Amino acid sequence: MFFDFNSKKPALFLAPMADVTNPAFRHVAHICGADFTYTEMIHSDGFNHDDPYAKNRGFSIGGVPYGIQIVGNDAESIAKTAAGLEGLFSPAAKVIDINMGCPSPPITKTGCGAALMAQDFGTANHPANIVRRVCETAELPVTAKIRIYKDHEKTLRLAKSLEDAGAAAVTVHGRTRGQMYSGNADWKIIAEIKKELSVPVILNGDIVDEKSLQTAMDLTNCDGYMIGRAAIGNPNLFRELKFYLETGEPEIVSVPDEFEIRGADLNQYFENLKRYNLLPHVNVRAHAQWFTKGLPYSREMRLKINDFHKEIKIRHLSDDELSAERESLTVEILNVFDEYAEKCRREFVF
Ligand SMILES: Cc1cc2nc3c(=O)[nH]c(=O)nc-3n(C[C@H](O)[C@H](O)[C@H](O)COP(=O)(O)O)c2cc1C
Repeated sequence: MFFDFNSKKPALFLAPMADVTNPAFRHVAHICGADFTYTEMIHSDGFNHDDPYAKNRGFSIGGVPYGIQIVGNDAESIAKTAAGLEGLFSPAAKVIDINMGCPSPPITKTGCGAALMAQDFGTANHPANIVRRVCETAELPVTAKIRIYKDHEKTLRLAKSLEDAGAAAVTVHGRTRGQMYSGNADWKIIAEIKKELSVPVILNGDIVDEKSLQTAMDLTNCDGYMIGRAAIGNPNLFRELKFYLETGEPEIVSVPDEFEIRGADLNQYFENLKRYNLLPHVNVRAHAQWFTKGLPYSREMRLKINDFHKEIKIRHLSDDELSAERESLTVEILNVFDEYAEKCRREFVF
């Protein structure tokens, strides 16, 4: 098994997220308490044509165990990518996850992501046959991340077919492809899938805090709970949820302390980006904006961060110049966090 579900029940997973779960961010989430993390989706066509994307984004800092996610439209090319990636990133990489749920049109238009779920049962590129093919060639265990159909019977049949094909676990985002990210995730169908399968089932969709985690746990008894959007800019959510799982109580953190924790996590994130040469690949400004989410003065902070180095046209810079530019931006951004953390200490009286 790629993860010891028995010793860490329930386990908290960081969802694969394009432009978010780069190695630097995954490492911070791991420090905060995420039990397992995944790369951003790595496109099989790109990888098979020597696109350096995977090399830049697919590794793990400090050898922390993690999963590699592949997106593609064809069993053979996904299998080839899986073989190449495990060669590059084992032993830290523990599992190959296949993206069968991304609804974004640039992805589905080429038959990838959620478009795979539109393939007929029995065809070569039906999700089950992709899993079967990758299991035949990969050394690492293979898992699938799916969405649901409107038809619950069909969803159950799909999940079962993935298990029968050899999937080591199935992650279910409880929304249909058509829903994109709107409406609520349907956890009831995930509860049915959990009852039906013998392999671990990981629930995904709408876990945002202690209450939603507890409700999902009570309803589904899943093996893992995967968190996406709520962790963007807030890896500390894993710390809070771990505290809750250990004590049964939400952690009470004062606003100034929350500010400082967020600033420290951002600092660690920037350090990782610098140390592992990731600055040319990450939009530091946008990521810093996410870290202000939910904090007092967040609007003021975002406006300030927006104004830094506005005049610089980054598309004319080499990677080295871009790194230097972004490194100086990180210093200014951290100063803003310090300034407002201090203001918060002065103005929030308890
Ligand atoms: C910015 C962003 C990027 C995403 N990229 C991926 C991806 O690369 N692979 C994938 O399987 N899902 C991707 N997703 C979907 C998430 O993994 C997750 O399924 C979805 O956000 C629902 O979980 P949540 O309600 O906890 O956010 C992405 C979502 C967001 C918001």
